[in-house]
Amino acid sequence: MAAAATEKTEFGYKRADFEVVCAKLKKLAGINLADSKDSMVYSRLSRRIRALKLKTFSEYLHYLDRHEEEKEEFINALTTNLTSFFREKHHFDHLKQHIASNKRALKIWCAAASTGEEPYSIAMTAVEAFGSFDLPVEIIASDIDSKVLATASQGVYKIEQLEGLPQSMKKRFFLRGKGSNSGLVRVVPELRKLLSFQKLNLMDDSWQLAKDFDIVFCRNVMIYFDKPTQLNILSKIIKHMRPQGLYYAGHSENFSHVSSILTPLGKTVYRPKAGTL
Ligand SMILES: C[S@@+](CC[C@H](N)C(=O)[O-])C[C@H]1O[C@@H](n2cnc3c(N)ncnc32)[C@H](O)[C@@H]1O
Repeated sequence: MAAAATEKTEFGYKRADFEVVCAKLKKLAGINLADSKDSMVYSRLSRRIRALKLKTFSEYLHYLDRHEEEKEEFINALTTNLTSFFREKHHFDHLKQHIASNKRALKIWCAAASTGEEPYSIAMTAVEAFGSFDLPVEIIASDIDSKVLATASQGVYKIEQLEGLPQSMKKRFFLRGKGSNSGLVRVVPELRKLLSFQKLNLMDDSWQLAKDFDIVFCRNVMIYFDKPTQLNILSKIIKHMRPQGLYYAGHSENFSHVSSILTPLGKTVYRPKAGTL
């Protein structure tokens, strides 16, 4: 057991509290927390305890049981939202080639969109492939975390986050903030309008979502789920895809155990296996 639960006494945080948090998070969001996340749980939930003017972790956990609306705050506090523009660039090169070689209407789902860098990268890729903002592409960006989705929907970022993007893309897709907004950029409205945002828990039994996605990006989220949960979620996802659809996974997501439903195409890109839809 790491430091916090044994040494930190503020809010009476104990090993048993950490275990309850782990069990609740797994049930609500499918996320498995390693023992090493003990300090992270302490610091993130301490903020909720202070905000609610409670005294101890066990008071907070009782409060969580009795207040449905706190579940959203609990999940928001404990998700890991690390992302960046054009993260794992080879996927965007692959996507650009795929779109450019077959310019047609496309429905794309970005299933763990976090603060939006990933779905906006998909949108920029599509615009570059079509050579126009006027394109038949629809992108649904979803996440379980309502706070990150609000950030994504605003489309405002720190200018440093664009480091690594070619100058031509910065100019085409972002507006620089002035005055009190200097140091910030906003995605241009023509890009923003290609996206819509939806709160969606991959653990829910069914989703209010189209069934004919051509492309699914579901990257760097399956790593938080155990293998049976991954298989269950993937089986549901492919029911929302066209037979010739493409599924993009995160670099460390090993899907050898789901070879019955996904065919690997290389570089963590997959296609639903015929007969599984
Ligand atoms: C590490 S971020 C990955 C962001 C992006 N896909 C990328 O690769 O850069 C993982 C995201 O998955 C979301 N997430 C975690 N559990 C989820 C669930 N059960 N349903 C939907 N999203 C979930 C988190 O809120 C977080 O924004």
